[in-house]
Amino acid sequence: MLVWAAMNVLAIETSCDETAVAVATGDAVPRLIVNAVSSQIDLHAQTNGIVPEVAAREQLVAMVPMLQEALRAAEAGGISIPHDLAAIAVTQGPGLAGSLLVGVETAKTLGAVWQKPVLGMHHIEGHIMGALAEVDPTAVQYPAVALVVSGGHTQLVQIDGIGQYQLLGTTRDDAAGEAFDKIARVLGLGYPGGPAVAQAAATVTAPADTWPVLPRPMLDHDNLDFSFAGLKTAVYYAVRDRELTAVEVGMFAAAAQQAIIDVLVGKTLKAAQKIGAREVWLAGGVAANTQLRETLQTQVAAKSGATVRIPPLLLTTDNAGMIALAAWRRLHAGITTPPPQAARPRISLEEANAR
Ligand code: KG4
Ligand code: ZN
Repeated sequence: MLVWAAMNVLAIETSCDETAVAVATGDAVPRLIVNAVSSQIDLHAQTNGIVPEVAAREQLVAMVPMLQEALRAAEAGGISIPHDLAAIAVTQGPGLAGSLLVGVETAKTLGAVWQKPVLGMHHIEGHIMGALAEVDPTAVQYPAVALVVSGGHTQLVQIDGIGQYQLLGTTRDDAAGEAFDKIARVLGLGYPGGPAVAQAAATVTAPADTWPVLPRPMLDHDNLDFSFAGLKTAVYYAVRDRELTAVEVGMFAAAAQQAIIDVLVGKTLKAAQKIGAREVWLAGGVAANTQLRETLQTQVAAKSGATVRIPPLLLTTDNAGMIALAAWRRLHAGITTPPPQAARPRISLEEANAR
């Protein structure tokens, strides 16, 4: 294991529509000193979704203020930058090319000026390590299975250690977050759809057996893959040409949310069983969903002996804290992380960790 004088990592994350800078520290256990995030959600709500060109330009606007905020907080926390930094970590992919470039070029510039190593990080590894948050590395038991659910990804990943990831299953069409977003649009709810659907569902008082009946795509298939496009289509055909009352919208939101959660949790349990997982981790933007957090926790407790790790809310949707924590864990485990050559919009988790 490498021993660093000071395990301080500054991380930059700009893969989509958040501009984020964070600093992690700690010798044996990681801890976040600052986790600064500037979100473009209000801007994209106007277009009911992300326009990549707009997102990239906004990254440029927010980058320097976020850096300044993180540097101020780090200094206040007793970390002198660049002097005390072990490395700069940056998300090199996957994500939107124009957005990624802003973070990657900023990190490369800082690395050159400050004479510090730059680590090219994988966005999904960041999400996964968000589930561990500030947990002591020696307390983690492998193998673990991570359910990664975000706007762009739905994956079940086997984790045998830091840097050792194997894809067990993925979505064949829409990601879970994308399903929330599209169903929200069909129901006339706002953007981003996940929180809007969750909020509408929370207003429902009618019992679940009176909700609209929706499919649980691929739940009973003998594999660990997902498919959510059919669920969105089912909602679309059920509400088409109808004027829904607020109560009906709530019932559809609750039914759709439950269908998504049933599939996610069912497949996660199947994956945990298959690999004999000692831990089950929840990760990604959809991990902010209260109902999913509670269901996964109770179902895993009831049906498997695995330890469940649910990320703190601030580490669910895109942030740089998760990237800083992932980079800290790689340094701590002595794993080499090459610098980013360029933004890698489509890089896979396995490709990023190929030895
Ligand atoms: O991880 P993330 O911030 O960005 C990507 O890497 O994609 O995830 C964003 C996704 C969006 O689809 C959003 O609707 C969903 O996470 N999301 C939620 C909730 N909060 C955010 N989905 C369900 N319930 C939530 N409370
Ligand atoms: Zn993400």
